[in-house]
Amino acid sequence: MINRQLVRIPEHVAIIMDGNGRWAQQRGLPRAMGHRKGVEAVRDVVRVAGEVGISYLTLFAFSSENWSRPEAEVTDLMGLLKAFIRRDLADLHSQNVRIRVIGSRDNLRSDILPLLIEAEETTRHNTGLTLVIAFNYGARDEIVRATKKLAEKVARGEIAAADIDSQAIENQLDTNGIPDPDLVIRTSGEERLSNFLLWQAAYAELLFVPEFWPDFSRDIFHAALETYARRDRRFGGVAPVATAAVS
Ligand code: IPE
Ligand code: IPE
Ligand code: MG
Repeated sequence: MINRQLVRIPEHVAIIMDGNGRWAQQRGLPRAMGHRKGVEAVRDVVRVAGEVGISYLTLFAFSSENWSRPEAEVTDLMGLLKAFIRRDLADLHSQNVRIRVIGSRDNLRSDILPLLIEAEETTRHNTGLTLVIAFNYGARDEIVRATKKLAEKVARGEIAAADIDSQAIENQLDTNGIPDPDLVIRTSGEERLSNFLLWQAAYAELLFVPEFWPDFSRDIFHAALETYARRDRRFGGVAPVATAAVS
């Protein structure tokens, strides 16, 4: 167990869950099996996040670019998302988890969108961990949609162009009301953001771990949190100097 007194717990952890396909390939299994096993890792990580007192956990489940995968794999991933919400929603609700979904809702299949809305609506008043599911999400697409909304407000005369500041942009992002991630973890050894939370992660600590997502365990998560606690976040300033005790 992690010692909450000793470790600085991030308020918001975001995870790029990568490596399902390679996990399966390494075992001579179809990629779909890796995705299936990945769902089990999701369940564990949500539980640990709640236990250690993380307030927001964002999971990158499907990117706006993942539509370019073979149709069979896309179908598998959609099936898993639907099964996850159907099977786990009641359990998440009983864990007091509040669900938010970020990503574009345009042109989502009619069997997916209602489930996402149901997950958000059912858990709306929960006060525990906020689980943010990034589905059909791409940061550039999110920023483009936010920009259009602001341009429309200017065109209608509701705001002046000169009034647009960081806060005005943030208010139009899908993550409106969610604090920026303190820690972004990517599994599988790849060291890139792949269009994830480009605006919000401006000052996030980045942590790349070698394990494939289906192998992401409680222990690896705890170790990641301990690594985060040792990081020195400066936000453009200078490191605080240890002050001598004044007698
Ligand atoms: C992450 O695993 C899951 C999704 C992107 C949906 P991948 O499917 O990207 O697995 P690799 O990177 O090909 O091993
Ligand atoms: C990022 O992983 C998207 C998700 C984890 C959902 P990808 O596997 O799609 O990213 P690239 O293609 O390796 O950059
Ligand atoms: Mg990948």
